[in-house]
Amino acid sequence: MKHEQQVTRRQFLRTAGKAATALAAMSAPHFIPASARGALAPSNRVNLAMIGTGNQGFQDMKAFLAEADAQIVAVCDVNRGSGGYRNVSQFCGREPAKKLVEETYAERRRAGTFRGCDAYADFRDVLARRDVDAVAIVVPDHWHSVMTILAARAGKDIYCEKPLSYTLAEGRAMVEAARAAGVVVQTGSHQRSRPLTRFGCELVRNGRIGQLKRIETRIGTWNRHGPPGEWSPMPVPDGFDYDTWIGPAPWEPYHKDRCLYTFRFMKDYSGGQTTNLGAHAFDMAQWGNNSEHTGPVEIEDDGSEWPTAGLFNVAKIVKFRARYANGVELICRTDTDSDPDRTVAQCRFIGTEGWIEMGAEGFFAEPESLKTSIIGANEIHLGTSTNHMRNFLDCVKTRTEPAAPIEIGHRSATICHLANIAMWLKRKLRWDPVAEQFIGDDAANRLLSRANRAPWAV
Ligand SMILES: NC(=O)c1ccc[n+]([C@@H]2O[C@H](COP(=O)([O-])OP(=O)(O)OC[C@H]3O[C@@H](n4cnc5c(N)ncnc54)[C@H](O)[C@@H]3O)[C@@H](O)[C@H]2O)c1
Repeated sequence: MKHEQQVTRRQFLRTAGKAATALAAMSAPHFIPASARGALAPSNRVNLAMIGTGNQGFQDMKAFLAEADAQIVAVCDVNRGSGGYRNVSQFCGREPAKKLVEETYAERRRAGTFRGCDAYADFRDVLARRDVDAVAIVVPDHWHSVMTILAARAGKDIYCEKPLSYTLAEGRAMVEAARAAGVVVQTGSHQRSRPLTRFGCELVRNGRIGQLKRIETRIGTWNRHGPPGEWSPMPVPDGFDYDTWIGPAPWEPYHKDRCLYTFRFMKDYSGGQTTNLGAHAFDMAQWGNNSEHTGPVEIEDDGSEWPTAGLFNVAKIVKFRARYANGVELICRTDTDSDPDRTVAQCRFIGTEGWIEMGAEGFFAEPESLKTSIIGANEIHLGTSTNHMRNFLDCVKTRTEPAAPIEIGHRSATICHLANIAMWLKRKLRWDPVAEQFIGDDAANRLLSRANRAPWAV
């Protein structure tokens, strides 16, 4: 019964999606003519649930709220509502998220086309709702795989934030679960929907810099510092389900710097800036290098630095080098001169006839004339998406592959994981991207997975 109901909603959305696409083609961008309103009737909207309404959860939620054919019907967070996120001005969690959704849809509510947004503490209650078509998973990395796999099994389409996985084995299991369920998955690698990034990768793929030799990536420094040396546990705040926040990770006593936003600096939940910002930088590298369905064959530490005490225990200075089968070298450095509060994730492609650099810091090229180069009709084009959420919603309706599909998200996250393992072990590792195993290194292979804390084995 549940499956039938989902198929019926999906067929409905698909038909509405085709009608909306045809109408959009006849009208100016972002303008929806009155005649299209039928396609935006409540039954034709994509019913969305936000799982994780923290720092990025609010950003993603606002982007979905701006899309007329999406409707957020549920929000979920283990935090009822508090400060303590990335910026002092942020007050996040499920109650503030519900409030924002209901304020934004006040007009729809008055018109009787929106019944309100429910707030949940347990994501399984969201997955059990038949009327939810898709979920956005915007929780710390150590939760991505469990939620994605269970959401796929529940038949939900998924927008999952980057880095796609916490370990390589999780990433592969996520890909398989999504394929088995036939659900659409968009990885939150939003630079795939940035025209300038795409243009830069198209220039590289079409040989404008000659033969590609080297890719230099640069990522930001730590932008937070936890308690140094010995630290004492703190009482868990009221309204925060800490045990569920820990979820599949090993249990440790609560400290405020462990959880909100700063989880990215502890190995149990994330991989530091290697995975946080590296997920963006290496994704661009993979795109331009046409290696997005594979990966490097060799990777080694190149002078990374790790803390020796304190709560935060991920690489503080990231430095590694890798080599692809086509001979292209990939290197990564922490940009110690960058402003810690800027999201630095740059990628420079160096070829025999020039270079191109892209990322949030800007778009640069040598020679400069590359910036005005035209990609011809018969050359390689890398898609058309200009809005990552819009692209996801369109793909939900048309059942097509989004701009950052799960396999590509997995391969980009893989580089983050390989890099952390190589920097941690401080030795050169040989990688088989087909078998997804290190060659002749059992100790390194053991770091490709982790057993989940009960009851979170999936
Ligand atoms: N695409 C981007 O540019 C971008 C930018 C920032 C963060 N991110 C990604 O978004 C994810 C979240 O990062 P953030 O900065 O928003 O972290 P955050 O700590 O600010 O927010 C995460 C939220 O998830 C909640 N949460 C944790 N476990 C939960 C569970 N089991 N069920 C429900 N809610 C749970 C937390 O309480 C918190 O409110 C990370 O994977 C991060 O890499 C992506």
